[in-house]
Order: sequence, then C-alpha cells, then structure tokens
Amino acid sequence: MEKVVASIMSTDNSAMRNEHDVQIRLLEAIEKGAAAQRPGHELSDLVDQLVEYTNVHFLSEQLLMRMYAYPAYAEHEDHHNELLDRIKDLQGTLADGDEEQLQQMARSLQEWVTGHIKRDDALFSRYLEEGATTSTGC
Ligand SMILES: [Fe+2]
Ligand SMILES: [Fe+2]
Repeated sequence: MEKVVASIMSTDNSAMRNEHDVQIRLLEAIEKGAAAQRPGHELSDLVDQLVEYTNVHFLSEQLLMRMYAYPAYAEHEDHHNELLDRIKDLQGTLADGDEEQLQQMARSLQEWVTGHIKRDDALFSRYLEEGATTSTGC
C-alpha cells in the first residue's frame, strides 16, 4: 500500500507531475496574458482557475501527509499557506489593474512553485518511498 501511495506522490509520477505542470502552466498563462494586456475578465478566469486548482492540489497533498503522519507536515503546510497568501496578493494586483506588476508576480510565483516541488514535495515523496506507515489517528 505504501508503495502505491509513494508512487502517486512521487514527483516523477505522471499524475503528480501533471498536477504540478498545470500549476506552472496557469502561472505562465497569467504572466503572458498580463504582458499581452489581455482583457481583465480573461486574466481573472485564469487566476480563479489557479486558486481552485492550487487549493485542490494542496488539500490532496496535505491529506496524504496526515494519513502518513509526515513529521514535517506543519512546515510544508506553512509553505502552502504562504503561496495561497501570495496568490491573494496576485488577485489584489489584478483588481488594481497593474498588469506590469501582475506579470512580475506571476513569474516570481513560477519560481516559488518550482522550488517548492524540488524541495518540499520531493522531501515528502522520499519520506513515502522510504516506507512511511499509515497514521492510526486518521
Ligand atoms: Fe505539490
Ligand atoms: Fe507541496
């Protein structure tokens, strides 16, 4: 069972890689859309998709962390919350109509997400691969 979960969470796993790719692609689309001065409603749709997708992705990761009593859960959750806060800032910038700032923020968030995948998500993936056991408290 642990092997199955480890393979689901593996950053090399195609399902997880696809989820991470969607996050990055949405941020790229926001950056390019802002650079091309696309209409506000188009940018707003992309940001809404980013919010929804990120919430679902983070909840699923966090559920796995709780199921497997991941010791660094709190720190990883803090990092997720930090990104959610930064996405709220992105929404504020969009509402202000500051496209240049929106473009910069979307680029910076791509770097943030890429770093998170390489560090935090990879650490959790390794924890599962090394044989984490299911928490009885979940
Ligand atoms: Fe992730
Ligand atoms: Fe994560």
